[in-house]
Parts: sequence; structure tokens; C-alpha cells
Amino acid sequence: MSNSRTKVIRTHEGHLLELMDENVQSVNALKSKLTRNHDRDDSRDDNDNDDGDGDGDGDGDGDSDSDSDGDGDRDGDSDNDQEHVVKKAKRQLAVQTPTGTLQVNSDDFRQYHQAKSRVRDFYREQHEKQTMAFNLQARVNFKTKTRAKMTIWDALCKLSMLIDDSDPDTELSQIDHALQTAEAIRADGNPRWMQLVGLIHDLGKILYFFDSEGQWDVVGDTFPIGCKFTDQIIFQEFFKGNPDDSHPIYSTELGIYERGCGLSSVMLSWGHDEYMYYIAKGQSTLNERALAMIRYHSFYPWHREGAYRYLMNDKDFEMLKEVQAFNKYDLYSKSLKRYGIKELEPYYLELIDEFFPAKYVEF
Ligand SMILES: [Fe+2]
Ligand SMILES: [Fe+2]
Repeated sequence: MSNSRTKVIRTHEGHLLELMDENVQSVNALKSKLTRNHDRDDSRDDNDNDDGDGDGDGDGDGDSDSDSDGDGDRDGDSDNDQEHVVKKAKRQLAVQTPTGTLQVNSDDFRQYHQAKSRVRDFYREQHEKQTMAFNLQARVNFKTKTRAKMTIWDALCKLSMLIDDSDPDTELSQIDHALQTAEAIRADGNPRWMQLVGLIHDLGKILYFFDSEGQWDVVGDTFPIGCKFTDQIIFQEFFKGNPDDSHPIYSTELGIYERGCGLSSVMLSWGHDEYMYYIAKGQSTLNERALAMIRYHSFYPWHREGAYRYLMNDKDFEMLKEVQAFNKYDLYSKSLKRYGIKELEPYYLELIDEFFPAKYVEF
């Protein structure tokens, strides 16, 4: 494959990766809201919405142009139901942070029905391929080589450069999301270490440009490997295609683990959270709360849905509160104003230096 060809594909997929992560978060937020607020009518709407689409999607090749139009047309029959769900979500999105309220931009939810089949396709692949065998190999790969050596700031910029700015669907780059999360944390008077977590929590997505096999081993919700895939994992039905789902040990509730063993003993599915956690743990002075936020921020079945409590120890219950506190900023800060990157760069360069002793970090 030529360099120019590679660049085009990666730029394009980088954009899809961005959309994927935002839409995954939107799906999670919507699902959770509906669960908490459901009544008889809500339940009916929710079921209609889930069943209305996804199966015969011919757009799974990742063509964003055809996706942005095609889904809306194909789903014409259920548009009213979807619109109803979207409107409900819009009304409900005022998010309480420790020191204030974040008003959530409902634009996030407009993308929901548009990207739903893409999200389903993504999760089908992720759930089928995140096996014990893959996860063991991914960790061996991680530990046996250095993919790049660069500053944290350069890595953030590199990630953002791979998004196609000419695409009308792209509204937010990775560095925008990083700065918005960090600035929302800062504005609420949270400590500097947490501001840095906001800045770097998604930096592990840079893995996508090194040796990932696709998007499925970089983004999306995470879940434990080596024990039962619980119903609280989004699109749980797609685990049917994962060999571990019928494994005599891995398919049991405890699997290879002991009750109360602690999440640090549990292998989570490989992606940008695990990758960035190991980098931050090995090369920064960030505290355990910060590391937990980085490691578990995509572990929605745990921090939002309440699953896997039986694997937790006392420390995990402490960390759960930290991760939930961080999640509000991660999920909803992107509706706040956009910041000037150049303007904020000096502040964040100093912040990075405070916690990463070496200027150049090994990725
Ligand atoms: Fe993330
Ligand atoms: Fe994020």
C-alpha cells in the first residue's frame, strides 16, 4: 500500500474513530437515562428504537458520506419513534458536577440514530474479537516494543491531525475534547492532577496509528475478559460470536477470578484505556485516583450499570466514586465552548511537565 493511500484511509478512519467514540458515549448516556426514567410508554419506545434498524445495513464499509444520508432514509418508518426518544433525551440533559451544572448540548443525541448501525457493527466486531487469546497477545505486544517516543502535547496534536477537517460531520477533534474535558475539570476547581487526566484520558487512541487491528481494539466500552460477559454490557448479544462466551471457564460468573479479588487482578478488554493506563503508570507521577480514571473511564458496565461488583475489593469501591466523578466531565464537557489551543498550550505544557518527568514519553 502506498503512503498516500495509507494517509487517505487513516485520515478517513481517524474521523470515523472520533465519531464512534462520541456515539458510543451517546448510546450509553441515552440507555442509562431511559433505564432510570422509564415508564410504560418509555419502554415501548425504547423497544421500538432498538429493533428498528441495524440488521440490513449495507453501509458497514465505513463510508461516512453514505452513512450520513443513508441511515436516515432507511429508517424512515421509525423516524417518529426515534425522534421521540431523542427529544426526551434532550430534555433530561442537565448534569450535576460537584460544583455546578453542565448543560448538555443535545447535538450529541442528534447523531444517535444516524450512527446507530455503525455502532452496532462496531460492537459486533469488538465483542467477537476481544478474546482471552487476543488480550494476552496484545499485552505481550505492548510490553515488548516502543511504538514512538514523543511529548504528550505532540501526541495530542498528532491524534487530532488525523481527522479529516473537510468532512462536514466532524465538529470536534481529539485535542478539542481533551481541552474541553480538562477545562471543565479546572473550572470546577478540581486539582491539577485531575485536570491532566482530562487532558490525556483519551490519548491512548494514538494506539490506532501504531499496531491496532482496527477500531475494535482501540475504542468502545471495556469489559472483563476471562469471566462471563454480563447483560449490562451494551450489545451483549454480539458475544455469541466470541469463542470465550462458550468456554467452560471463561463463560462462568467468576471465570478465572476469585470473588472480591479486586479489579487490579482483572484483565479488561484491550483498548485506549488500558494502553494509556500503562503509559501513565510507568512514566508519570499521577496518583492512584488519576490512574483509575484513565483505566476505567470506558468501563461503563461497571461505573454506570453496576455490573461486576462481585469482583471488587474495598479499594475499588473508593475508585468507583472517582471514576464516576470524572465521567461527568468526559461525557458532557464536549457541549461547552471550544478553546483556543495556542492560548491554552503554555498552561498545559507546564501541567504535563509537573507529572511526566521525562519530556519524551515512550508510547
Ligand atoms: Fe475514552
Ligand atoms: Fe473522552
